[in-house]
Amino acid sequence: MARFTAFFVALALSVSQLNVHAAPLSIRADGGNFVQCNVARLKTVAGLSSTTSALKQITSTDSDTSAAVTAAQAGLKDAQSGIVTIAKALLSGQAAPSAAREQVGQGLLAAHAALEGVSASDNSVTTALTKLEETIAAGQQVVAKCGSDAVEEEFVAPSTAPADAAEGTLTKRQIGGLRCNIARLQTVRNLSASTKAVKNLSATAQGDTLAMTEVQNAMAGLQSAKDGVSTIARAIVTGQQAPASARDQVGQGLNTAQNSLNSIQSSDPAINDGAAAASAMVGKTLTAGAAVVANC
Ligand SMILES: *[C@@H]1O[C@H](CO)[C@@H](O)[C@H](O)[C@H]1NC(C)=O
Ligand SMILES: *[C@@H]1O[C@H](CO)[C@@H](O)[C@H](O)[C@H]1NC(C)=O
Repeated sequence: MARFTAFFVALALSVSQLNVHAAPLSIRADGGNFVQCNVARLKTVAGLSSTTSALKQITSTDSDTSAAVTAAQAGLKDAQSGIVTIAKALLSGQAAPSAAREQVGQGLLAAHAALEGVSASDNSVTTALTKLEETIAAGQQVVAKCGSDAVEEEFVAPSTAPADAAEGTLTKRQIGGLRCNIARLQTVRNLSASTKAVKNLSATAQGDTLAMTEVQNAMAGLQSAKDGVSTIARAIVTGQQAPASARDQVGQGLNTAQNSLNSIQSSDPAINDGAAAASAMVGKTLTAGAAVVANC
């Protein structure tokens, strides 16, 4: 991994030099983004490396945990080979291939899904998850700072006849890329935070029968949304298209949860506050879900 990192540092430097010679004006115009783009690339690579090390620190003999670690390692390996492909393309002066970006995103996402499934009471798992999330955040910065749209457009262009805008949109949807996977991840994370917020509310609302009914409805909605996410995740992992019915199930489950939480009106302000906090979290999940629809 150290050699790999050194390779990427060399890459970032050589690319900056190339650009300085080739386009001094655009560097001046957009120098901030350019530097940030390379910093984000380096952070992504460094993050992958420290996540890999953190995974090695997980010594649990529990079979679920070992299986999750193996799956997470496979995801990281995939992400890393996507980065190598991107690095080679950049070194030879080409745009980063969308498929490789997708590979990086999906590898990170798969690793995250694997780790999030196991007990959070194991500190070494939590540490690895934190490193992984830092890596994903750095990857998000790459998308934001390295001009992904231009690259994606470039890849969409050959198959997009001007007369057939719908086909172009479909191609772009299929390409998806890192942004799509970040949105998926944000949906999963927010969904899990929503469940925690509703569980917390359920502890506060024990004495209020009406509120508890709505809390249970909200919980059922979130569970249904989670089942929909699992169906989608299974489809993605096996290389199939996410079934439309599973997407609907996620959306409907979230809407049910939010409506139930919004209808809570208790005489206990703590219950109302908890319901408002949980509803806001479900709202964020819906926003993240909308980003999935837009980017995937
Ligand atoms: C939750 O979703 C919002 C978008 O609605 C996003 O900005 C945020 O990062 C997400 N939270 C997590 C923990 O992913
Ligand atoms: C749990 O609910 C209480 C009361 O609404 C709130 O003060 C507290 O911040 C909540 N904790 C979490 C972790 O959401």
